[in-house]
Amino acid sequence: MKAKINGIDLAYSDQGQGQPLVFLHAFPLNRSMWEPQVRELSKEFRVVTLDLRGHGESDAPMWRYTLDQFAEDLQGLLGFLRIRQPVLAGLSMGGYVLFAYYRKFGTRSGKGACPIKGLILADTRAQADTVDGRAGRVAMAQTAYTQGAGAIADLMLPKLLSPASLQSRPDLVARVRDMIAWTQLSGVVGDLMAMAERPDSVPLLKQIACPTLVIVGQDDQATPPAEAQLIAEHIKGARLEIIPGAGHLANLEQPEAFTRAIRSFLETIG
Ligand code: MLT
Repeated sequence: MKAKINGIDLAYSDQGQGQPLVFLHAFPLNRSMWEPQVRELSKEFRVVTLDLRGHGESDAPMWRYTLDQFAEDLQGLLGFLRIRQPVLAGLSMGGYVLFAYYRKFGTRSGKGACPIKGLILADTRAQADTVDGRAGRVAMAQTAYTQGAGAIADLMLPKLLSPASLQSRPDLVARVRDMIAWTQLSGVVGDLMAMAERPDSVPLLKQIACPTLVIVGQDDQATPPAEAQLIAEHIKGARLEIIPGAGHLANLEQPEAFTRAIRSFLETIG
């Protein structure tokens, strides 16, 4: 399905009934990465996934990509779907979008209840890019421009999947490679600029006042467990789940454990 949000078509899926649960994908993937979670959790909850601008079946304009823009798009879609008090889940770049979203829309208004029922921050980090990290984004954008998204798949796969998955799960490797290779260049480059310019979210962590689950794959090389520990230590009452046998895309590498962690978190927040 598609919705016209902030002047572009955003693609989304909306399945099941009950507490709304909205999933935001990683760079440079799309909403299909949440297929195992949608299949299981939509039996009990209203599960929404969206393709961020530049990804999957959403429009991929040349202009403009910032984490604030992604947050505005999310807010627009929530309004379009008349969703209040969602649980918001984001993996890696999806987590960066949630920090931007919380900064813009997550604070209590004084009168009303907190607009977010719960946050799930998976395989992500709160810090901004380092100088070297930013230079790496520029180099990757140049590679995307000269060699196409297939070359980005070659660079990203060893960061996204654990060595064990890379060696023994050709089906999963092919699936992730396809998601990356089909991402439009405006989206790939737009994400890289957006991520390079994102602010430090560590100071925000202490202000987060909604129930939070932090999940990380034990073998995540891109955002290792120490990053998740830092986030969980700074958010009051946050719960930390480390998923054994998973790298960065913990939800695809160990879908059952990942989904179980979400389900048990949702039980605690009612
Ligand atoms: C992602 O999975 O979204 C990326 O690894 C995030 C990043 O490059 O910082």
